[in-house]
Amino acid sequence: MAVKITEEYIDLLNQAVARELQVSVQYMLQHTKMEKLMKKTLPENILLDKTTYDAIGKFLKEFSIQEMKHAGSIMERIYYLGGQATTKATKPIIGNSLNEFAKLGVEAEEEALELYRKIIDESRRLGDHETRALFRKIYEEEEKHLFKFQEYVEVFDEPNEPEGEVSEWLKIYTDDYFELLNKAAASEISAIIQYTNQHEKASLLVLRKKNTPLEVISEQNRAQIVSELLKKVFMQEMDHLEKISERIYLLGGETAYNPSPLPIVGDNVDAFLKLDQQAENDAIVLYRKIIEEALKRGDTTTRKMFEEIILQEEEHYWNFDEYVK
Ligand SMILES: [Fe+2]
Ligand SMILES: [Fe+2]
Ligand SMILES: [Fe+2]
Ligand SMILES: [Fe+2]
Repeated sequence: MAVKITEEYIDLLNQAVARELQVSVQYMLQHTKMEKLMKKTLPENILLDKTTYDAIGKFLKEFSIQEMKHAGSIMERIYYLGGQATTKATKPIIGNSLNEFAKLGVEAEEEALELYRKIIDESRRLGDHETRALFRKIYEEEEKHLFKFQEYVEVFDEPNEPEGEVSEWLKIYTDDYFELLNKAAASEISAIIQYTNQHEKASLLVLRKKNTPLEVISEQNRAQIVSELLKKVFMQEMDHLEKISERIYLLGGETAYNPSPLPIVGDNVDAFLKLDQQAENDAIVLYRKIIEEALKRGDTTTRKMFEEIILQEEEHYWNFDEYVK
């Protein structure tokens, strides 16, 4: 082995993965919660809507995607080093106002910087130059995140107090309905983490090995092709999570931030495909149920949204099916 890797070292890198997964979900849900907050403050402060809300909402989504990419790069590195990358996220904290989003962001980024300094030191000590270079690059980006959040810490913004009287039209959105919608959010989070991890796991040596002359010539094997597909699919799942959580917040609910079912990665391409088809299958079954329930309650927007999402889940299912042996 190029560098001597200990279990503690892999654990340390996995702490970084857990943080990245956390903030990715955290920033995405804050971004989608923005819609709701925006509506609430609109009558009192039109200026705020046009400036702060738009600005923060936009960069939170950008950050969320960047953090998922960080998680991916660190996972990839862990697999290269022969370790197993975790699928467990540290607990996201969403908050109820822009001010809270900013403060939570500052906190999360400061903690990340501290951890990454430790990793940069440790990788230098081990002579693991690649990991060190990777974390120095990530460190730079986290610093930018931190500075951005710091700009907004002073924003005056009341926490979102629970409303007294619920409007008549909102009464169709009961707790059991939110519970159902949250199953969808949780399953999207699960798919995002599972596919990201599998996408990176394809960089494990055993999965990179070429078995046929064709694989050698094309410099690609099945694992790498599936890995590329997974990347495309998980970006779409991010989009689904965005839509679903935005809808939940808008209707006055709170969005789930834990993946459910728990992501399972699998050991080889065949296992990936089987697990992923199962995940898509379960999502399709669940979303059909949601469509039916939305129809019953007269919630046309949610119904239409899930009808669109389900088309993509079916496409995912068949995409995976193409590579099943
Ligand atoms: Fe990050
Ligand atoms: Fe960050
Ligand atoms: Fe999805
Ligand atoms: Fe899907």
